[in-house]
Amino acid sequence: MPGLGETTNWSVRIKDYAAVALVAFVLTLCVGGLSDSAIAQQGVADPAISQNSPTGGAVPGDVLGTNSDAEYWRAVRGGVQGTVSIPDQKAGTLVQSEGEAWRSFRNGPMSLYASWAMLGMIVLLGIFYAIRGRIKIAHGRSGQTITRFKAIERFGHWLLAVSFVVLALTGLNVLFGRYVILPLLGAEAFSFITQMGKYLHNYLGFAFMLGLLMIFVMWVKHNLPDRTDIKWVLQGGGIFSSKLHPPAKKFNAGQKVIFWLTILGGVSLSLSGWQLLFPFTTTFFADTFDKINLIFATNLPTTLSVIQEQQLATLWHSIMAVFMVCVILAHIYIGSVGMEGAFDAMGTGEVDLNWAKEHHSIWVDEHMDDVHERDQGKPAAQPAE
Ligand code: HEM
Repeated sequence: MPGLGETTNWSVRIKDYAAVALVAFVLTLCVGGLSDSAIAQQGVADPAISQNSPTGGAVPGDVLGTNSDAEYWRAVRGGVQGTVSIPDQKAGTLVQSEGEAWRSFRNGPMSLYASWAMLGMIVLLGIFYAIRGRIKIAHGRSGQTITRFKAIERFGHWLLAVSFVVLALTGLNVLFGRYVILPLLGAEAFSFITQMGKYLHNYLGFAFMLGLLMIFVMWVKHNLPDRTDIKWVLQGGGIFSSKLHPPAKKFNAGQKVIFWLTILGGVSLSLSGWQLLFPFTTTFFADTFDKINLIFATNLPTTLSVIQEQQLATLWHSIMAVFMVCVILAHIYIGSVGMEGAFDAMGTGEVDLNWAKEHHSIWVDEHMDDVHERDQGKPAAQPAE
């Protein structure tokens, strides 16, 4: 078969172009996941090949110069970055091999382990509930309450919580919906739900970030580690004993762990989500790898293409999201069915005094002014000294 540059008449040339287009199309389909961007790539010429060409890469004709078809397509398959005359320079990469690795990992091991992790957490919580049952207020309700969270604190918490739950459900639908919901509801309903979910996901990300910022500002000072945490951890948080609860301030060591996981995981989710919302505008992964290389003397790649940045962002965003779902499942359990009296803290903001003494004794000692008779909102009578 003659090379492109050796064509002698138009009919042979047209056949060559048709063959080139066909192979390009098949290769594009083979790399799967990123087919949208890859299919759009026509008229790509590798600058290195163009320089060698007798015509200096002039179009039409003689695109390959002295290079064989095999060399040309090997370079294309290897992900060579060519040039295009349209503004979107990404279109100059005809085949992006990492796309296939990305797709296989996302639809394979990542989805599999994500499902196991979330199911595993639900089973663990079920087992814990079966063994320990609901953690009761050991001394019963006192008839007095103490103000635990002000309205602004509860607003920040619920802004964060509601947005997180909706983001988690709509995000999981993107990952698993086609396997779980599509067969149940059919294509039309699924596509409607998914499209609405996408809008919710895009916009609620900002509510999540605001909630995260609010709880950080309001609670960070109560979540700095101190000596009481050591005692709390050594006594296992009193979680397996119905009488003994180690002393704690506003937040105990377990809650501090939840707080910092929420903040760090939330920031990481927000940044990777930002990168997905505004594609090709950030280089968060190259920048992060650069810092990691400096600190740990590793050799992570620091020159990533814009498409690789996006691929890493989708993977990292999904992994962090699933991790956070697992953590928050445990938090929701203990803040609702798992512990008597806990939900009131974020419901009305008033908790039973005995509950507070059992779980946050040091904090109660410092806040006796905030004690009220139940349902009257009036300060309780203080015993004479
Ligand atoms: C949707 C159901 C949820 C319920 C029922 C719930 C319940 C609670 C309760 C009762 C508290 C106060 C505990 C106390 O008085 O010490 C609390 C605190 C907190 N919540 Fe939630 N929450 C939920 C969702 C979330 C979500 C989705 C997040 C984060 C994404 C979150 C983050 C936090 C944080 C950081 C704290 C303070 C630390 C802690 O108590 O562990 N919550 N939550």
